[in-house]
Formats: sequence, C-alpha cells, structure tokens
Amino acid sequence: MRSPRDFGKPLALGAPVPPLEIPVKPSRVIHFFDPSNAKMAAKLPDIAPQTDILLGNLEDAIPADRKVEAREGLVRIGREVDLGDTPLWTRINSLDSPWFLDDVMRLVGEIGDRLEVVMIPKVEGPWDIHYVDRLLAQLEARHKLRRTLLVHAILETALGVTNVEEICAASPRMQGISFGPADLAASRRMKTTRVGGGHPAYLVRTDPDPNNPNAPRVTAQQDPWHYSIARMVDACAATGCLPFYGPFGDISDPLGCEDQFRAAFLLGCVGAWSLHPSQLEIAKRVFSPPVEEVKFAKRVLEAMPDGRGVLMLDGKMQDDATWKQCRVMVTLAKLLAAKDPQLARAYGL
Ligand code: GLV
Ligand code: MG
Repeated sequence: MRSPRDFGKPLALGAPVPPLEIPVKPSRVIHFFDPSNAKMAAKLPDIAPQTDILLGNLEDAIPADRKVEAREGLVRIGREVDLGDTPLWTRINSLDSPWFLDDVMRLVGEIGDRLEVVMIPKVEGPWDIHYVDRLLAQLEARHKLRRTLLVHAILETALGVTNVEEICAASPRMQGISFGPADLAASRRMKTTRVGGGHPAYLVRTDPDPNNPNAPRVTAQQDPWHYSIARMVDACAATGCLPFYGPFGDISDPLGCEDQFRAAFLLGCVGAWSLHPSQLEIAKRVFSPPVEEVKFAKRVLEAMPDGRGVLMLDGKMQDDATWKQCRVMVTLAKLLAAKDPQLARAYGL
C-alpha cells in the first residue's frame, strides 16, 4: 500500500516535485529517428515543425554495435539542435538490457533538462515503473533538474497487458502508454510476422447454406488488437495517462496504416508513432477530429449550453452523454487549432 498523500512528494531529496496532472498537448504523432544517423539528424530542424513530438530511438531497430553512437548522437542533438517548441522524447533500451543503465545515467546527466518524456520498452508490471521512478528521482536530484521527467511505457508483453492498470497507476510520472504490436505478437506466440495491422487469415465466416453447401461463404476480417488496445485505453483514461497506438511496419501500405491509426483514434488513443516521414501526415490527419464532426459537436454545445436536458438535432437525440462526447471532440479541436492555423480555419475556431 502506498499512501495517496505521498504521490505528490519527490522520491529523492532534492528532486523536483512530481506533477499530479499530466500536461495535455498536441500528441497526434511521435516521430521516431535514429540519433546515430547523421543524415537523419541534419534533417531534424525541418522535421520538427511537422510533428507533434520527436523521439530519439535507442532501442529496437538500432543495431547492437551502434547503441553507444545512438546514445551519444542524442546527447549532441539535445545540446545543439534547435527543435523549436517540439518536445524531445527518447526510447531507451529495456530494463534487462546491457544498455539501460548507461542510457539513463548519460541522458539524464547530459540532457535531462531538454528531454520531456522517457519511453521504457517491455514494461511488465508496476515494479518496473517503481524502479525507474526512484532512479530518475535520484538522478534529477544529483543533476539539479527543476522539472520532473515523465515516463511512457510500451505495452508489448503478455505480462504487461495483464498488469496494464497497475502499470498506469504506478507513479505520477506515468505520462502514457504506447501499444507495441510487434513485440506483443512474439510474447504471445501469435503466428504472425508483421508490425501492426490485421491479418487476412484472422476472420469469421458465415454458416454453410444447407441447400447449397459448396456455395461461397462471406467472410469478414477481424481485428486481432481490439481487446488489448481497448484495455490500454481504459487503464489510461482511469488513471489520467494518455494512450497511443505504436508502430505500423508496412511503409508501402499507407491505407492499411490509416485504417489501423483510425481504429485506435476511434477507440480513444490520442496519437500514434511515425516510422517514416510518409506516416507523419497520415497520423496528423487521422488523429485530428474530422471537420464535419467538430462542426456538429459545436452545434450540440451551442444548443445545450449547460450540458443538461434532451433535444433533437438533425434527427439525433442529444442528452448529457452526447454533450460530453461533443465536448471531448471540441476540446481536442481547440487544442490542435491553437497550434495549426489551417485546422483552426477548417474547424471555424
Ligand atoms: C514496438 O516496439 C513493438 O514492438 O511493436
Ligand atoms: Mg517493441
């Protein structure tokens, strides 16, 4: 048992006081880059204004013999590259890897005041977050940081999914969770070789026609991720964290990527990862509420200024609950419009 009164106290003497509310900012897309790649680093000032979040990746996709180069590349980028007001995050190596400790020690020591969020892969339970929480507090105190580093967990093991509620509730640092379909598929022994998206063999089929048993039967592809993403969204919403969809690996399939992102958006996710510049635009479009929905939501709010009662609008019943849905839509639209004049015009805000 941990007393709720202690959640607002630092875990090390001299560390900053952790926030009790997670700041909500435009978070439609987390764009991943390889900090060991000098060509990619040179493009960052141009990419920064196009994304909501930039993330220097140290974990999977960075080969073992470039781990140190990637870490040092990120230190240099954090110190020297002007990214405007685009937040800089990192994904460090997992807790059981030989790189985790040096990743944390070096990054917090060198660019701890520059990083906003540290993404921790393969989180399995609250114990992982407790360890990171205390270690970060000690390093914040040692390096006299004035702002608490936030933690973002990747949900990508069967044990992690089993413990997702406890992971979200483990620390006030918990900013959010990203869904990691590739590692999760391996952890569960799913028989797939993909990074996100559906699978044509995961389907349901109508019954045979008794009068014509050999006639073709209609099938519908199912969503293998629905259960876990929905659990993640509930765990995040219940604890004030933000849920994200993670990677979509088939860069040559923008429509499949868009469908996967939209399913996550409709279920409650705030954003997704982009692994390639072409996915940036897809994520921003999908995770910005549709213009017609925002306009309709504004009409509902105007028609029911105090959010109570019941009325009909375009033949659809509106009551306290639809008013709340409309408020979610308009609040997000206003948040995004404040940063994007084109969206502001489209929404009429
Ligand atoms: C992301 O890290 C994944 O494993 O899908
Ligand atoms: Mg992974």
